[in-house]
Amino acid sequence: MELHILEHSLKVASIEKEGIQICTHGLIKLAFLASKTRCKFFSLTETPEDYTIIVDEEGFKELPESEHISVADATWLALNVVSGGGNASNSQPIGVTKIAKSVIAPLADHNISVFMLSTYQTDFILVRERDLPMVMHTLSSEFTLLRVINGETVAAHNLGVTNGFVKPKLVPRPIIHPLSSPSNMFCVTSLDPDTLPSVATLLMDVMFYSDTGASGEDSSHIRFFSFSLIEGYISLVMDEQTTQRFPNNVLFTSASGELWKMVRIGGQPLGFDECGIVAQISEPLATADIPAYYISTFKFDHALVRDDALYHVFSKVSKCATEKST
Ligand code: ARG
Repeated sequence: MELHILEHSLKVASIEKEGIQICTHGLIKLAFLASKTRCKFFSLTETPEDYTIIVDEEGFKELPESEHISVADATWLALNVVSGGGNASNSQPIGVTKIAKSVIAPLADHNISVFMLSTYQTDFILVRERDLPMVMHTLSSEFTLLRVINGETVAAHNLGVTNGFVKPKLVPRPIIHPLSSPSNMFCVTSLDPDTLPSVATLLMDVMFYSDTGASGEDSSHIRFFSFSLIEGYISLVMDEQTTQRFPNNVLFTSASGELWKMVRIGGQPLGFDECGIVAQISEPLATADIPAYYISTFKFDHALVRDDALYHVFSKVSKCATEKST
């Protein structure tokens, strides 16, 4: 298995809902007029609390300076697992389940904080640039490490963690953050970039203007929409109701055409320093072979699991928590 360390230097930022107006000029350019920018990694996720942006340095220049924007004070690098050789495209479990034991758990054991972004195409594990030597050290036994430099994939040299092998502290991973599950169901989907112009107005509406007059009857219904344009690939995570606004045959349906339940992780904002949150959730899921997607936002984390697995998730996760702490 290969682990690619992508070359994008990423910023993670939050735009307050009240501040979205001053950012739309830049955000529309990043999402719909990407050829006018040099941005190669852009993701925008709307949650009830804010908009989370993950963007490379080039794209970051498109955003204004504003008191409505908070930027996490680190530069992040995206890691991506590529199953080397063979075309085992469909035999692999999807999402974080695939990388929970080989990437997420070892990083958590070495106290390395991650930030997750699952997309239709793949799962990006963001780590802080300053943690890279430790990340490489931790994952070098399991993976062939490759770095992308000027678009070329080259062997990554261990950046020399000199203090020898740091034995991971095998601390238990009890679930310490509250979990909740909204009532709406989600779809992880994509579209051909060539058809983007045909749905651009609809997407602008969904991304920037759908907060007003939303049916507030069902309070357990959550506002969550994620758009990403990464290296030319589009990924969309939206609820079932939103998918119905799209013309037929525009959104890709595949194994992921199905609907997923969301598990929201966090009561207080989770911050960026704590490690092991993704591991707490994804490890027990991987043990039970339950596929899941995982999207971190500025304040909270979000796992997507199949409806029939939801009960399983809550029981597995809490069972695991009690087992590990006893
Ligand atoms: N750093 C956490 C971990 O290593 C995941 C991210 C939580 N923070 C957030 N703002 N969403 O598991």
